[in-house]
Amino acid sequence: MSVKAKLPPFEALCPLPVVLLTCQDEEGKSNIITLAWVGICSSDPPQLSASVAPSRHSHDILEKAGYFVINVPSIPLLEKVDQAGCVSGRDVDKWQEIGFTPVPSDLAGAPLIEECPINIECKTRQYISLGGHDMFIGKILSVHANKDILDAEGGVDFAKAQPFCFNHGEYWSLGEKIGSIGMSKKA
Ligand SMILES: Cc1cc2nc3c(=O)[nH]c(=O)nc-3n(C[C@H](O)[C@H](O)[C@H](O)COP(=O)(O)O)c2cc1C
Repeated sequence: MSVKAKLPPFEALCPLPVVLLTCQDEEGKSNIITLAWVGICSSDPPQLSASVAPSRHSHDILEKAGYFVINVPSIPLLEKVDQAGCVSGRDVDKWQEIGFTPVPSDLAGAPLIEECPINIECKTRQYISLGGHDMFIGKILSVHANKDILDAEGGVDFAKAQPFCFNHGEYWSLGEKIGSIGMSKKA
């Protein structure tokens, strides 16, 4: 008897990060979209992917913009993050409606979200049409972090950033640190 139950194909990967992507159209109007289908996809140069359904208002903007910002929210922003994923920029100005503060970015055109402790400016490198979602691969141009989440060496202390994740319709916090990379070699 196998210990495994075979399930039909579905998006079984977990956990996924929850982020807010900001993008800006040709007229200078920016929008915010909540995303969970994102990830780092290369390190040299650093790149990440963001998958956005063609029906989203943000998709229309991203297709033309060439730049976007990935803003990493912290747990106290959970309600606002959910809200940004439940209304469309076609119908409301999410900055006003939800109460986020735009901060001009250095390079990416689209504003950073002041309330998010980490902001990653990206230039779209590739666009891959996948069906239900299209993947925008962005080269990371610049990273901003709140000074109060930096450690003594100036690196990001991710515990202080309080990110959270998405597991099949549910939001989860991260729990405890359980190890460090390379720990198996030292043992
Ligand atoms: C937690 C969460 C994760 C989401 N992840 C994605 C995603 O990865 N890709 C996507 O296209 N939509 C995703 N959505 C849905 C969009 O955020 C939602 O449709 C939003 O209203 C689209 O906004 P827009 O029309 O202003 O672009 C997610 C929503 C939530 C609440």
